[in-house]
Amino acid sequence: MKALFSALNLLLLLMLFGFYPSMTIGPKEGWQVYSSAQDPDGRCICTVVAPEQNLCSRDAKSKQLRQLLEKVQNMSQSIEVLNLRTQRDFQYVLKMETQMTGLKDKFRQIEDDRKTLMTKHFQDLKEKMDELQPLIPVLEQYKTDAKLIVQFKEEIRNLTAVLTAIQEEIGAYDYEELHLRVISLETRLRGCMTKLTCGKLMKISGPITIKTSGTRFGAWMTDPLTSERNNRVWYMDSYTNNKIVREYKSISDFVSGAESRTYNLPFKWAGTNHVVYNGSLYYNKYQSNIVIKYSFDTGRVLAQRTLEYAGFHNVYPYTWGGFSDIDLMADEIGLWAVYATNQNAGNIVISQIDAQTLEVLQSWSTGYPKRSAGESFMICGTLYVTNSHLTGAKVYYSYSTKASTYEYIDIPFHNQYFHISMLDYNARDRALYAWNNGHQVLFNVTLFHIIKTDDM
Ligand SMILES: *[C@@H]1O[C@H](CO)[C@@H](O)[C@H](O)[C@H]1NC(C)=O
Ligand SMILES: *[C@@H]1O[C@H](CO)[C@@H](O)[C@H](O)[C@H]1NC(C)=O
Ligand SMILES: *[C@@H]1O[C@H](CO)[C@@H](O)[C@H](O)[C@H]1NC(C)=O
Ligand SMILES: *[C@@H]1O[C@H](CO)[C@@H](O)[C@H](O)[C@H]1NC(C)=O
Repeated sequence: MKALFSALNLLLLLMLFGFYPSMTIGPKEGWQVYSSAQDPDGRCICTVVAPEQNLCSRDAKSKQLRQLLEKVQNMSQSIEVLNLRTQRDFQYVLKMETQMTGLKDKFRQIEDDRKTLMTKHFQDLKEKMDELQPLIPVLEQYKTDAKLIVQFKEEIRNLTAVLTAIQEEIGAYDYEELHLRVISLETRLRGCMTKLTCGKLMKISGPITIKTSGTRFGAWMTDPLTSERNNRVWYMDSYTNNKIVREYKSISDFVSGAESRTYNLPFKWAGTNHVVYNGSLYYNKYQSNIVIKYSFDTGRVLAQRTLEYAGFHNVYPYTWGGFSDIDLMADEIGLWAVYATNQNAGNIVISQIDAQTLEVLQSWSTGYPKRSAGESFMICGTLYVTNSHLTGAKVYYSYSTKASTYEYIDIPFHNQYFHISMLDYNARDRALYAWNNGHQVLFNVTLFHIIKTDDM
């Protein structure tokens, strides 16, 4: 009886505030109130159904709007990432431009009073100029990219403003049009990102020492296919006689030593050239040329396969030895194995690998002897090879799988602790992870984006 009374009270309240019971108004407005049912104990029940239908559809719209906003925020984040990368490259370009201009001036000056100079100096300078000449169109292209990002940023800002403004009056705006604008922006952004993220290695900067731990030889890495928020670190000390992988939830946990899990692999590994890719560890099984795919989620081996003809157990290691015969790596394109075979006279063979089945999809034979390579890593389908693991090491040779061509190059990097036993590119961070004599270090890389222009 008391409950019925409060139901009546509620009705009264609703009427006072300008709401009416469902029978007096259409189903599209107001609240709906039902009352005077009895529960098993004989008490009266009052049920208020709210919000009503129209409000429900408003809710659906706000949900869609929220999703749109989230999308825009996601895009903003992507742009921030792009922008960060671009800024970094841009500084490099600016410096280079200044250098080039300086050189040009010097060149002119020297030309002016060349009688006072020996011909050789003059010739040296002229050659240096000629070397730099092809870079000019690249620099021009680069400026176009920077503009593109500025434009994207503005579009996002505009769109966010529109979205924020209409949050109050949802029904008023043409949702379809808004949706189309977001989709179009997203497509263009994705196109832009794929164009911008691939390029040619120009420079390696750093290193930053993240941690000092372990033996002289080992491997550490993050998964390039997970989001930056789920940035687990995997740590595999030593090149032989070990099968314990340590996991840390983040770089800072890694630095402080707060281990989150350890995995006991079913087989020992060989070398230090493992890779974590899309939640699985790919590694070379000890004393074999078998590649293992191990899932961290299930703790199971998902696939294993022989890498045909690949030398193993110090037949074709890198210069430092350590059973580093088979190097597994990932880049923007996918998963790769780098090794050497008798058939290719001990020179490096590059194979693209199916990440599910470990089958070789395609192979390229290079002319670079694996035993003379310090390390190698893949960026955008191009393999970069260093000439040593010791002081003075530099990136010395590159092989493009797209063009099936090679090039001798000269990109120095600072081998701070004098002995590198692992060097691998992470496409998400656009960084090189290295194990440098018991130090875990990171290098940044600068890529030049040589772009096929379309609508821009
Ligand atoms: C935004 O990004 C997050 C994390 O990457 C993702 O879970 C979410 O689905 C994205 N939202 C939209 C609307 O794309
Ligand atoms: C963003 O809005 C400003 C001012 O309304 C406009 O001038 C500009 O063209 C818009 N930019 C884009 C990329 O739509
Ligand atoms: C990553 O793994 C998921 C399933 O776990 C799969 O759907 C996706 O295609 C994989 N991505 C790549 C690039 O292999
Ligand atoms: C790489 O560049 C980013 C952005 O400029 C910077 O925050 C980071 O510290 C750099 N890392 C290394 C290893 O130099």
